[in-house]
Amino acid sequence: MTLSEDPVREDPVREHPVPETTLREMTWRDIPSLAELEPELFVDDPWSERTWWAELAGRPRRAYVVAERVGAVVGYAGVDRGGEVADVMTVAVAPTARGQGLGKMLLDWLVAQARRGGAEHLMLEVRADNVAAQRLYSRAGFAMLTVRRRYYQPGDVDALIMRLRVGDATQDTTQDTIVDPAADMRQDVTL
Ligand SMILES: CC(C)(COP(=O)(O)OP(=O)(O)OC[C@H]1O[C@@H](n2cnc3c(N)ncnc32)[C@H](O)[C@@H]1OP(=O)(O)O)[C@@H](O)C(=O)NCCC(=O)NCCS
Repeated sequence: MTLSEDPVREDPVREHPVPETTLREMTWRDIPSLAELEPELFVDDPWSERTWWAELAGRPRRAYVVAERVGAVVGYAGVDRGGEVADVMTVAVAPTARGQGLGKMLLDWLVAQARRGGAEHLMLEVRADNVAAQRLYSRAGFAMLTVRRRYYQPGDVDALIMRLRVGDATQDTTQDTIVDPAADMRQDVTL
């Protein structure tokens, strides 16, 4: 599904136009490019091709999406939505595509998927030193629940556990896998 009606959206703060972004369901064909991106995006704990295969085998409980620009994967996200609590498995944007709203777009998609799976809450863990991700989550309404001390090793980095209530707005009746996240973010995020 195309998320922008405009083939090329003008970004007022950039000299160059931002190419059209498309969200589509992740497939096994994406695995080589995902495994190539991972070490750059998650330096301390990149997922291998084997991990990606296992994650995709977990569908439909797991749901994964990729963001494409000009035919190249520039971001991706995944969620486990099997129960009352859905969990963000991953969300990432390639460095060249950051700061243009793509992380927010992917997070909106995750929220929509959690809600569609019937979850009451969407939870995630984030490194205490990952300021960009924490800001992304708190701006979307996630609240800090607890801290797991020295969770990330090596480095003794704490994990912040964050949570968003998604269960109060189950009016989404569309049937397709990919949804317009902007429409789905009209929600009550009170915890
Ligand atoms: C976190 C990440 C997904 C953000 O992606 P992005 O496309 O740059 O994010 P967006 O452009 O949609 O920004 C959304 C919000 O995130 C926050 N944010 C994004 N980058 C930020 C930065 N460098 N510093 C502070 N806040 C930042 C801002 O609040 C921003 O909203 P605002 O500009 O209106 O204030 C991206 O930095 C990334 O992939 N990092 C590596 C992987 C990772 O850490 N994933 C999360 C694991 S828990």
